[in-house]
Amino acid sequence: MVHTISLASGTSLSYELRAADGGTLPSFEAGAHIDVHLGPSLVRQYSLCNSPREKGRYLICVRRDDTGRGGSRTLHRDLTVGRRLRISPPRNHFPLVTAEHHVLVAGGIGITPLLSMAEALAARGASFVLHHYTSSAAEAPLLERLQTSALGERTVVHHSDQGDTARAGLPAELLVPEPDTAVYVCGPEGFMTHVVAKATAAGWQPGQLHTERFAPGAPPSTGGGEGDAAKAEAATAFTVRIASTGTAYPVPADRTIAEVLTAQGVEVELSCEQGICGACLTTVLAGEPDHRDEVQTPDERAANDRITVCCSRARTPELLLDL
Ligand code: FES
Repeated sequence: MVHTISLASGTSLSYELRAADGGTLPSFEAGAHIDVHLGPSLVRQYSLCNSPREKGRYLICVRRDDTGRGGSRTLHRDLTVGRRLRISPPRNHFPLVTAEHHVLVAGGIGITPLLSMAEALAARGASFVLHHYTSSAAEAPLLERLQTSALGERTVVHHSDQGDTARAGLPAELLVPEPDTAVYVCGPEGFMTHVVAKATAAGWQPGQLHTERFAPGAPPSTGGGEGDAAKAEAATAFTVRIASTGTAYPVPADRTIAEVLTAQGVEVELSCEQGICGACLTTVLAGEPDHRDEVQTPDERAANDRITVCCSRARTPELLLDL
């Protein structure tokens, strides 16, 4: 249930969600998100931006995007205090990893998971720095919380109306790769692409760069060559076999695994259906997936033991799924 709504910036609202019966909510880790069901076919993912130590509430912050797909406009228009809301349990594909130092880089509303992560790092006395790129002080979401004593001294806020942008120059911490340092990036697609490309060019290893997307980006390349890109774009037919029954289902080039399975009555958990939330991750028992999601890290994709059935395909004639 929507408990309170408050202004987080000129275009962003914070929503405090509590259980309708006043009970506790499932616990979460910093970096987690929830699905918010806004209508029969309108589901959006929002990061939890409060402290994981808070048991009785979830806090999400949503920037109104007048050029987006409509979720934020619907949410700003329809969510009022007291409204009951269907949400998923928290899911985390953007967890903090073990490292000696953490560099958090947020663009605009991408601050939401990173704020929770920064507070978690501060609470455990870990070494970190948080860079937050915004258009102006008026448009900086959740600025007040960033300026608290626990985070303030380790936070650098950059305002583009003062010429301080990621394109004008990355933070010094990103220019020289350091071993045992983890970098986390969240923000608009163009911002993330730029920061990751520059950090990679500076020498950071893919396993050190952690990203969170809430809109699909370009299809991921598994090896960086032109051949991989071509394979990622072309869709071909293959077969999925379900381990529990042994039944095989042909997947035509123009349908997804999830579409085929749900049409046959095989239950698959779905949410974003764009490869960005992780709801449909399914264990692969045999065969090689052709990963097209934004959820798994390069290492996880290379392991080839899980697949997002809403969008990914197969590099082998058959995939055996643990369903
Ligand atoms: S349903 Fe969201 S990744 Fe597949």
